[in-house]
Amino acid sequence: MLVLGLETTCDETSAAVVRRHEDGRGEILSNVVLSQVSAHAEYGGVVPEIAARAHVEALDGIVAQAMAEARIGFSHLNAVAAAAGPGLIGGVIVGLTTAKAIALAAGKPLVAVNHLEAHALSPRLVGKLGFPYCLLLVSGGHTQIVAVLDVDRFERLGTTIDDAVGEAFDKVGKMLSLPYPGGPRVEAAASRGNPRRFAFPRPMLGRHEPDFSLSGLKTAVRLAAEAIAPLSETDVADLCASFQAAVVEVIEDRLRMGLRLFGSRFGKPKGLVIAGGVGANKAIRAALDRIAAENALRLLMPPASLCTDNGAIIAWAGAERLALGMTDDLDCPPRARWPL
Ligand code: KG4
Ligand code: ZN
Repeated sequence: MLVLGLETTCDETSAAVVRRHEDGRGEILSNVVLSQVSAHAEYGGVVPEIAARAHVEALDGIVAQAMAEARIGFSHLNAVAAAAGPGLIGGVIVGLTTAKAIALAAGKPLVAVNHLEAHALSPRLVGKLGFPYCLLLVSGGHTQIVAVLDVDRFERLGTTIDDAVGEAFDKVGKMLSLPYPGGPRVEAAASRGNPRRFAFPRPMLGRHEPDFSLSGLKTAVRLAAEAIAPLSETDVADLCASFQAAVVEVIEDRLRMGLRLFGSRFGKPKGLVIAGGVGANKAIRAALDRIAAENALRLLMPPASLCTDNGAIIAWAGAERLALGMTDDLDCPPRARWPL
C-alpha cells in the first residue's frame, strides 16, 4: 500500500511517500522536508501569512521531488493524505487543497489526517508496536500525555494549562536572544551550562492529575535573567541548563503520574513513546529512558527527523486509516482546531 502524505500545518513544507506492508511494517520511500525557519527568523516566530504563501510557492516542487525520489507516479498510489489540521489555517488549506486536487486528478482516495494523530502513530512507522500505548506528545503547540488505544481512539490523560513545552523552550530562547527557534539552541547552550546555578520552580510537581504548567517557570527564567543582566555566555548557558533541568524534572514527574493513571484505566501499556519536535531533546529522551526502565516498559523513540513535522508521519497515518477503510470526501474541511 503506497500513500503520499502532505504536511503544511506550521512552518515545514513536506511531502513523503510511505509504503505499508501487509504485515503492518512501514517503509519510507521518500520524505522531503523544506523548513521555512529562515523566512520567519527575523520575526522571532512563525508568521501565519508568510507561512501560507511559502507553502503555496514550495509545495508543488516538494511533491514532485517526493514522487521522483520514491520512483513512482501518481497512478501507483493507493491514497493521498494531507494534514487537515490542527494548525495555521492558511497552510492547512494549501496542503489539503493540493491533496484533494491530486486525489481527484489521479482518481485516488483522499485521507484527511489529524496532525496530532500522525505524531501519535509515528512510532508504528519505525517499529512494531501494538495498542494500547502511552504517548508523551511534546511540540511547539502541544503538550499531552495520551493513551493511544487504536488508530483513531485516544484518551487524553493530561495536558498543559498554559504553555506547551516547545513554546516554553522557544520563549526562553527568545528572552536570552538566541536565534529562532529556541528549542535546539537552548538545548545546545544547556549542554555547556550549570543546571544547579539557578533554583527554578518545578510547577505541578506531585500533583495527582498529570497536567503541566510552564508559564511560571518561564517567568522565573526571565526574572533571573533580568536580575543578572547584561548576560555573559556563561550566564546564558547556566540559565538554559537550569531551565532544562526543571523541565526534565517536571516531565519525569508528570509522566510517572500519567503512567499510574494509564495503568488504572487501561492496564499495562505495550510501550512508552515520545513524539513531537521536543522529542529531539536528548535530556528529555534520557528522562524517558529512566522512566521506561523503572516501569519495565518498552520505549520507542522515533528518530529526531520523524519527531519534528514531516510528511512521512502524515502518509503513515493515512496508510493506517486506509488499511481500516477510513477515507474522506473531497469536501472535507480544513480545521484550525481539531483535538485528538
Ligand atoms: O512538532 P514540531 O516540529 O512542530 C509543532 O507541531 O509544534 O515541534 C517544534 C517545536 C519547537 O517549539 C522547537 O523549539 C521544539 O519543537 N524543539 C526542541 C528541540 N528541537 C525542536 N525543543 C527542545 N529541544 C530540542 N532539541
Ligand atoms: Zn507537529
